[in-house]
Amino acid sequence: MTDPSLAASVIDTSKPHPARVYDWFLGGKDNYPVDEELGRQITAMEPTAKYGARHNRWFMQRATRMLAARLGVRQFLDIGTGIPTEPNLHRIAQTAAPETSVVYVDNDPIVLAHAEALLRGTPEGVTRYLQADAREPRKILDLAREILDFDRPIAVSLIALLHFIPDEQGAYEIVRTLVDALPSGSYLALSQLASDHDEERTRRAVAMYAASGVTLVPRSRAEMAKFFAGLELLDPGVVWLPDWHAELAVDEERDGTAVPLYAGVARKP
Ligand SMILES: C[S@@+](CC[C@H](N)C(=O)[O-])C[C@H]1O[C@@H](n2cnc3c(N)ncnc32)[C@H](O)[C@@H]1O
Repeated sequence: MTDPSLAASVIDTSKPHPARVYDWFLGGKDNYPVDEELGRQITAMEPTAKYGARHNRWFMQRATRMLAARLGVRQFLDIGTGIPTEPNLHRIAQTAAPETSVVYVDNDPIVLAHAEALLRGTPEGVTRYLQADAREPRKILDLAREILDFDRPIAVSLIALLHFIPDEQGAYEIVRTLVDALPSGSYLALSQLASDHDEERTRRAVAMYAASGVTLVPRSRAEMAKFFAGLELLDPGVVWLPDWHAELAVDEERDGTAVPLYAGVARKP
């Protein structure tokens, strides 16, 4: 499942892929000229794009620390994981509690090619990588059930994923299917590109991605909040991403950059 040569044979370098463009924004090396080209176009229009990617990563870290260290969650299902970037989610969760189980899911073959970096977890815990598409949540749940105990709380994270899934492709139904499968006391952590931050720049970013064959779906705060229907939002609710529990941020994270992403975490009652 993690054979790099197998994955390399299906990596399409003729058009940009979200995981690789994001890797370029983060300063990674696992991207191709087409990804860099789109990254540069976006950065020329929106110079803070790279900081946005870093802030998004920091949100993942804060949310995971909160869930693992403060709320005692010991099982994580992270969908749309991305190319490994230290510290990865399992590092943070297993630092809080080494026995934590983490299941990663992504549909991009480049993530599969690098998945071994996602599997270097603690001996006490479990870390697994599944190659699957978020648009098939039942398949993901079936695979995850072989690893995670669905009678104990699970934190499902879809961090900077849902803006690649249009409503017509079932974005809300995907979240609903995942949440319905979780026991009480589980959590949902989301971040998502905002449609109402700077509408003109967002429109241009959507057009740039579209010209490269990637669909980007910004959503308003209310549309983001709908993903949490039936759940109890943790304070401070759905907010601009750097504002989500800013008190948990390390100094580096407090750079004051405005980030056009919403973030939130909620508990299943
Ligand atoms: C912007 S990256 C975010 C990575 C990571 N969650 C983070 O926040 O740092 C989005 C990831 O979602 C993945 N992705 C996009 N559409 C997907 C789908 N339908 N199923 C599974 N993964 C998907 C991409 O391959 C990419 O790795």
